[in-house]
Amino acid sequence: MQTHEIRERFINHFTKAGHQEVPSASLILDDPNLLFVNAGMVPFKPYFLGQQNPPFPNGTATSIQKCVRTLDIEEVGITTRHNTFFQMAGNFSFGQYFKEGAITYAWALLTNPVAEGGYGLDPERLWVTVYLDDDEAADIWHEKVGIPRERIQRLGMADNYWSMGVPGPCGPCSEIYYDRGPEYGKEGGPIADDNRYLEIWNLVFMENERGEGIGKDNFEILGPLPKKNIDTGLGVERVACILQGVDNVYETDLLAPVIAVAERLSGTKYGAKQEDDIRFRVIADHCRTGMMLILDGVTPSNEGRGYILRRLLRRIIRSARLLGATGTTLEEFMNTIMDTMTPSYPEIADNRERILRVSITEEAAFLKTLESGTERFEEAAAAVKSKGSSSVSGADAFALHDTYGFPIDLTLEMAAEAGLEVDTEGFESLMAEQRARAKADNQAKKHGHADLSIYREWVDEHPTVFTGFDELSSSVKVLGLISGGQKVSEVAEGQEVEVILDASPLYAESGGQLGDRGTITRGDVVLDVNDVQKIGKKLWVHRATVTRGALGVGEEVTAQVNEQWRHAARQSHSATHLIHGALRQVLGPTAVQAGSMNQPGYLRFDFNYTEQLTPEQLKDIESITNLAVDNDWAVNTIETSLAEAKAMGAMALFGENYGDVVRVVEIGGPFSIELCGGTHVSHSSQIGPVSILGESSIGSGARRIEAYSGLDSFHYLSKERALAEGIASSLKAKTDDLPERIAALTQKLKETEKQLERMRRQQMAQQSGQIAAEAELLGGVSVVIKRLDAGANVGDLRNIANDVRGKLSGKPAVVALVSETDGKVPFVIAASKEAVEAGLSAKDLAAQFGGYIKGHGGGKPDMVQGAGSEIGGFESGAQALRAAIQNA
Ligand code: SER
Repeated sequence: MQTHEIRERFINHFTKAGHQEVPSASLILDDPNLLFVNAGMVPFKPYFLGQQNPPFPNGTATSIQKCVRTLDIEEVGITTRHNTFFQMAGNFSFGQYFKEGAITYAWALLTNPVAEGGYGLDPERLWVTVYLDDDEAADIWHEKVGIPRERIQRLGMADNYWSMGVPGPCGPCSEIYYDRGPEYGKEGGPIADDNRYLEIWNLVFMENERGEGIGKDNFEILGPLPKKNIDTGLGVERVACILQGVDNVYETDLLAPVIAVAERLSGTKYGAKQEDDIRFRVIADHCRTGMMLILDGVTPSNEGRGYILRRLLRRIIRSARLLGATGTTLEEFMNTIMDTMTPSYPEIADNRERILRVSITEEAAFLKTLESGTERFEEAAAAVKSKGSSSVSGADAFALHDTYGFPIDLTLEMAAEAGLEVDTEGFESLMAEQRARAKADNQAKKHGHADLSIYREWVDEHPTVFTGFDELSSSVKVLGLISGGQKVSEVAEGQEVEVILDASPLYAESGGQLGDRGTITRGDVVLDVNDVQKIGKKLWVHRATVTRGALGVGEEVTAQVNEQWRHAARQSHSATHLIHGALRQVLGPTAVQAGSMNQPGYLRFDFNYTEQLTPEQLKDIESITNLAVDNDWAVNTIETSLAEAKAMGAMALFGENYGDVVRVVEIGGPFSIELCGGTHVSHSSQIGPVSILGESSIGSGARRIEAYSGLDSFHYLSKERALAEGIASSLKAKTDDLPERIAALTQKLKETEKQLERMRRQQMAQQSGQIAAEAELLGGVSVVIKRLDAGANVGDLRNIANDVRGKLSGKPAVVALVSETDGKVPFVIAASKEAVEAGLSAKDLAAQFGGYIKGHGGGKPDMVQGAGSEIGGFESGAQALRAAIQNA
């Protein structure tokens, strides 16, 4: 049974039972705790916690969620069941059915005959586990389903109590395993061998809330959730592995074609050698994960999500090379995986070109890196060997990783090939230091060093109400004050503080728009707000300085947005949308937004595109944007469902949750429709002029446009005009005539320079007759040693020396010329053929002479040129030369 069909059967089974089908959320959800969505329940978290009502008619839902888990990236291909990308099929009940419902639904789908829509698994091969004291679940499995007691096993917290690993919903779970037979391991059920007994489905009886703690079994349980819920997750890939009768999850219908391509490109056979097989599986696994990440908007970079993508792509390229592929490989791998995945993810079709472009660009960059890194490795290895040591230092391994992007295992492999070891402990400790630094930097940037748990109570119970779409000043209440990372009840004049309010008109930084500036006041008391950040999408944290008086928790205050700031921020944000619209008109739909920054008067817009834009394209983008401003379009904001927004063609759907009401900002109908929570002007003409400053590359496959909007744009243009007028007046020309005038002037200048050069050469040439006449005879050799006028460069010296030597030809002759130019002392020494035959080498003479003028030269026995820095040494150098020639 093909994977696509396994998905369909799952959804059919549960929609028939009244569950609402919910499309997969993006892999990138805005949850500060998660890099990627890693379980089917993630998008449903607010419903489990009772923070929101589930918008599903029967309180039940089903989905097949895209998931990425990259913690154990090094394990890929070694075990037979871990994919970094996988599809988790789930059914969810929010306060509706509980244990019995979950168990019987799962059993029916697994064991119903294929002809009746099930997976047709042999019930005799299924085993289950339950949590230690969960007799209720064990009884249901035995009494309602009929599984014999000996195939029901009990496991503790680490295995059978599920949580997200961080605070959130949790509960005991029951897992279903399939016995793959004795060839896969020993008997005794899942507790004895989890390779032979493959876990396929986890049923979580979500009834409690987890607190802080560590890992899977060391945390506090805060108490029961408002309702008893069900969250299940079936591993689609694992079921495919069983139903397709293949050995492991890398050989299913979706990934096997990639392995076949890798065999062809590398000339190596899959299934012949264990270490090669792991590389084949890494390629298959990672290229699917990489492709799905790019699809959801991730681009390779050196931090966060982008770094994971970069690592995945690099591991593919490296694995392919280790298998024996010599050329580029990503294009073929990506095309293959896109073919197999498109039936389940039709949106791939519209993104093929972009996915390819991002991958190919990254590959080209990495191949270059690989080359320079290999050189660096070889240097390090040679140094190690020459010291008589056999271990590459942790610092070298770290430098290779940090500067050249070499994963440690690559360094290890290369070291092994060179018969060396690597100080991996030293490497790990440098890595740990770097991670700690990065983490501290990130936290500091976003949350001012404060421990995030300090905000938790407000995040859960008092999410901030944003009033700033409708008003710029609101009467609000102080809910909390944080100073120096601690909750405090009062703050005094001069203190820096984070203020939590019940509601706020100040915009908190998000969607690229900077947080508002403004004030919080109460009578004479004034706080200046310097920044506003959001915690967990919900809580506004106002960073402020108390400039007058003191403020306490519980007080009523006025929060006021700085109107000028907001006005210009709005202009800038709306300008960003127009530039995005214009960009897509000019470059086509593959130029996808990758990020943006809007601050009053200035904006940056980042997008995925691999080529540099031409000046014409930039000009077109700028004029289309300004036409859109001039059209005076109304800026409409619409609140709607995600599905509706998608249907309208809204762009930038990353990171949205389908339960959410989303906000769509529309300017000029189809010209610009985006999901956006930012603040905007009400008519496009209010943006004022938009001036594009330029365009640049910001890493592989991504580019940035920068622009001014509103008054800043006017100031910029006015400065440019003043500049042009200044130039025009000094040239006594009209500004319109400037290009022509400047071109004519440049042309004239070039001609004059050429003429000057010709004259100088003539003058030099005339000197050579006279110089030859000054030759003295030393030990039978005609010798000229002369310091020419300053300004003659080494080329001039060579020409003259050649001429003079020609004039003295037919007998042994040496010509040495020196000059001074640009702070240097160029010199030339020429020896005639006869002189060379008599044993006089210009090279030897230059070596001697160079010492006197602090320089050296290079060339052949008959002509050497070089430069020194000390003209003062000329006379003594000349004496030494004379003596050397005389005595030769
Ligand atoms: N949340 C559970 C898991 O990830 C079941 O969906 O395994």
